[in-house]
Amino acid sequence: MFDLHSHLLPGLDDGSPNMGVSFEMARAYVDQGVLCVVCTPHILPGLYHNTGPDIREAAASLQRSLDEAGIPLHIATGADNHIVPDFVEGLRRGHLLSLDDTAYVLVEPPHHIAPARLEDLFFSLLVAGYVPILTHPERLTWIEGKYDVIERLVARGVWMQLTAGSLLGRFGRRPRYWAQRMLEEGRAHILATDAHDNTSRPPDLLRGREAAAKIVGETEAYNLVFARPLGVLKNLRSGELPEPEGITSEDDHDARAVQTSGSGHGRGLRERMRRFLA
Ligand SMILES: [Fe+2]
Repeated sequence: MFDLHSHLLPGLDDGSPNMGVSFEMARAYVDQGVLCVVCTPHILPGLYHNTGPDIREAAASLQRSLDEAGIPLHIATGADNHIVPDFVEGLRRGHLLSLDDTAYVLVEPPHHIAPARLEDLFFSLLVAGYVPILTHPERLTWIEGKYDVIERLVARGVWMQLTAGSLLGRFGRRPRYWAQRMLEEGRAHILATDAHDNTSRPPDLLRGREAAAKIVGETEAYNLVFARPLGVLKNLRSGELPEPEGITSEDDHDARAVQTSGSGHGRGLRERMRRFLA
């Protein structure tokens, strides 16, 4: 599996506070069979002043430490990019980061108010050749009255990233409801952890995947944590990747038997990543 949204880098935001916690989280990822984590610290003017270069440096440092400790986890760079007026320009200048420098980019809207011209921003990203991925729509309180915005964005090619913990009830009843509904309707593309620590908001991708499988079946659960995230890391065009399947789709019979456990010790992490990305 691949986690495209994680606050694993230590000391950059409200995620992991130090290298010790990052190591605990990294071990938890490996134990679940996660091969690669895209580290996505917040970039939010006025609160989290991270920039692309800062994140790259921190990711390289964490990768070195994990390698030295023999923890087989591949680290990639990204950002939890909060909405700013010059978003596309920020990506072009390298101040904001896409996921592993691909065309796919996390976009985090405000939680409590749908900003005016939200759809224009997503449209400008699409026109510029990016595939915006709206982070955790199920946890935005404004989804209650403005689900039509989400529906239109999906119809235009914006991807939706659900949080594994939402399916597990970690954020309460309403986020769980919306996460389940979006899965059932085939409006969710990616499941990610948005992990911040190893206790209250842990890397729980495997449990999230299992919860998703109960709703939409094994094949779509596989697509949420493996096929589409891998397509992102390979920078494939979104049209080449499987469309989300709601529960109206018939068969889970051909669900692939996917290895979800086992850390791959001794098999050569880089070799495996190379093979996946080839
Ligand atoms: Fe996040």
